[in-house]
Amino acid sequence: MLRERLAARIRRSGPLRIDEYMRLCLHDPDEGYYATRPDLGAAGDFVTAPLVSQMFGELLGLWAAQVWLSIGAPTRVSLIELGPGLGVMMSDVLRAARRAPGFLDAAEIWLMETSAPLRARQAEALAGLAAPRWAADLQATPQDVPAIVLANEFLDCLPIRQAVRTAEGWREQVVALAADGGLAFALGPPPPAGRALPDTPVGLVAEWSDEVEAAGAAIGERVRRTGGAALMIDYGRDAPGPGDTLQALRRHRKECPLARPGEADLTAHVDFPAFLTTARSAGASARITTQARFLEAMGVRTRAAALARARPDRAAAIGRQLERLIAPGEMGVLFKVAAVSAPGLVPPGFEGQS
Ligand SMILES: C[S@@+](CC[C@H](N)C(=O)[O-])C[C@H]1O[C@@H](n2cnc3c(N)ncnc32)[C@H](O)[C@@H]1O
Repeated sequence: MLRERLAARIRRSGPLRIDEYMRLCLHDPDEGYYATRPDLGAAGDFVTAPLVSQMFGELLGLWAAQVWLSIGAPTRVSLIELGPGLGVMMSDVLRAARRAPGFLDAAEIWLMETSAPLRARQAEALAGLAAPRWAADLQATPQDVPAIVLANEFLDCLPIRQAVRTAEGWREQVVALAADGGLAFALGPPPPAGRALPDTPVGLVAEWSDEVEAAGAAIGERVRRTGGAALMIDYGRDAPGPGDTLQALRRHRKECPLARPGEADLTAHVDFPAFLTTARSAGASARITTQARFLEAMGVRTRAAALARARPDRAAAIGRQLERLIAPGEMGVLFKVAAVSAPGLVPPGFEGQS
């Protein structure tokens, strides 16, 4: 079992940093959660917005088509999804985007996905709709065409590091062995010199993610250079601050991240301020809003009303899906939408934001 292999590795080479632990739990080729047993959906471990309602992906499809029109309807554009899960969102995106004549002829569909079982599900979901290609990273997609990038609940899977404020200063949090041989959190060496951490009271945890920051830089650089825009939707904070947000999700319940390595999804709240900063440093414009404000601006209420008119028998269920997506106590406020765009382009849904 992965837990035993991790314990043996810690005995051999010392404690693991949190990002190392997350990477192994999620992507270990033999026992990682995404590599071997991702289980998305109502009957699985967790439900995401595209699985709540088709409205979510449809509005993203309209967003993508509007971005394409606003950059002059180029004859080639890369439509890229990061972490596409079951492929449901991209299929809704493509169905809605048909309404913009010419867009789907111009769009080459690229999926960035590490999980082999999920790549198979994506191929199935998109069969007959598109001929997607898979890429390991943005560099592997064509570099001479504009990019429209979409991602829902991708950044929260990227490994984070954690540090704990002690009376003597910051110490990195690590995964070590407890006296009984099980996995336990422990204090490791000081965090890397130069890593700015918030000024917090003793005992609090601060987090950062080199991979989230690298994603901001790569996406920012890409849309600045080739034109286009990216939309990153996820739960996370929109202001810097401390807090331990590492969590494991299994069968819709949160559990201790050390409880069942490889058997649960491991995530952390996205540090959007850091993501936006690296995107801006790469020369792009970057904006953020809540999922509720974004979906409202994109016309989610009108879309829900149209769906309910077409299927009066499903009106109550559609109303509940709408609530789930936009109510403040549900996904509306915890989930944020970050847009990264070529300078001068204000993406749909962000009008009025500088
Ligand atoms: C929480 S799921 C979200 C799936 C989908 N976007 C949705 O909203 O239903 C995370 C997705 O990101 C993928 N993923 C995780 N880490 C990744 C990485 N480093 N590179 C590419 N894909 C990754 C997972 O395999 C999965 O498809």
